[in-house]
Amino acid sequence: MSEFNEKPERLIVDGLRLDGRKFDELRPIKIEASVLKRADGSCYLEMGKNKVIAAVFGPREVHPRHLQDPSKAVVRYRYNMAPFSVEERKRPGPDRRSVEISKVSKEAFEAVIMKELFPRSAIDIFVEVLQADAGSRTACLNAASVALVDAGVPMKGMITSVAVGKADGHLVLDPMKEEDNFGEADMPFAFLIRNGKIESIALLQMDGRMTKEEVRQAIELAKKGALQIYQMQREAILRRYIEVGEEMDEITEGDEDA
Ligand code: CDP
Repeated sequence: MSEFNEKPERLIVDGLRLDGRKFDELRPIKIEASVLKRADGSCYLEMGKNKVIAAVFGPREVHPRHLQDPSKAVVRYRYNMAPFSVEERKRPGPDRRSVEISKVSKEAFEAVIMKELFPRSAIDIFVEVLQADAGSRTACLNAASVALVDAGVPMKGMITSVAVGKADGHLVLDPMKEEDNFGEADMPFAFLIRNGKIESIALLQMDGRMTKEEVRQAIELAKKGALQIYQMQREAILRRYIEVGEEMDEITEGDEDA
């Protein structure tokens, strides 16, 4: 049993959160692009204790064929939680929660993927949660976005996602499990970011209670966090391009030697 299964007396102590973060601080993030050999694009991502992997396939033929759209690609998104990813073993397979997360996440990507370029085809996005600690949908959206770029799928921008919670009356960026369980609100966002600028909100959900003013502040806090995550997504992609460039150089040098 986790030490945090019971409500801690306070979620904020001396102006800091239980994991030592400031209100506007993200959890540590790690992103690695191109981790799976068989996917067209992939990404491994950690956001705090969340560990997720995204795999993208396509554009490819649609099966079953009656799902084809003659004018554009269909986007499919499957969010899946491993049974061992949570404290209490999760029954394998889809449940209401994962169906809902898959639906809203798919809709966020439909807003950015240039589907019209690929009529009759499918772009399949699979995300697997290996370890969850609140905000797993946001971690998956961030990983999926990098995996789509890795697959070379044309997009109008990046999808970058982060939640804002409310703990002991304070708005907190990127809530972890204890804040999600025992806080007063949770508001996940996904933004469409193009050239470093937030263009629109592609996903917005909310449970709990916030005042109108808090909602306004939550949007600002989420934007600030998302821009930081966006930079890390970019860096992960650039790192991968540099690696590919070096691999290409080695191949070319090899050719010259021959
Ligand atoms: O993960 P996310 O915050 O996007 O979704 P949620 O439905 O708000 O779930 C919050 C957290 O509850 C998850 O990240 C898991 O840590 C936990 N959870 C769980 O322990 N068992 C489940 N069957 C589902 C979620």
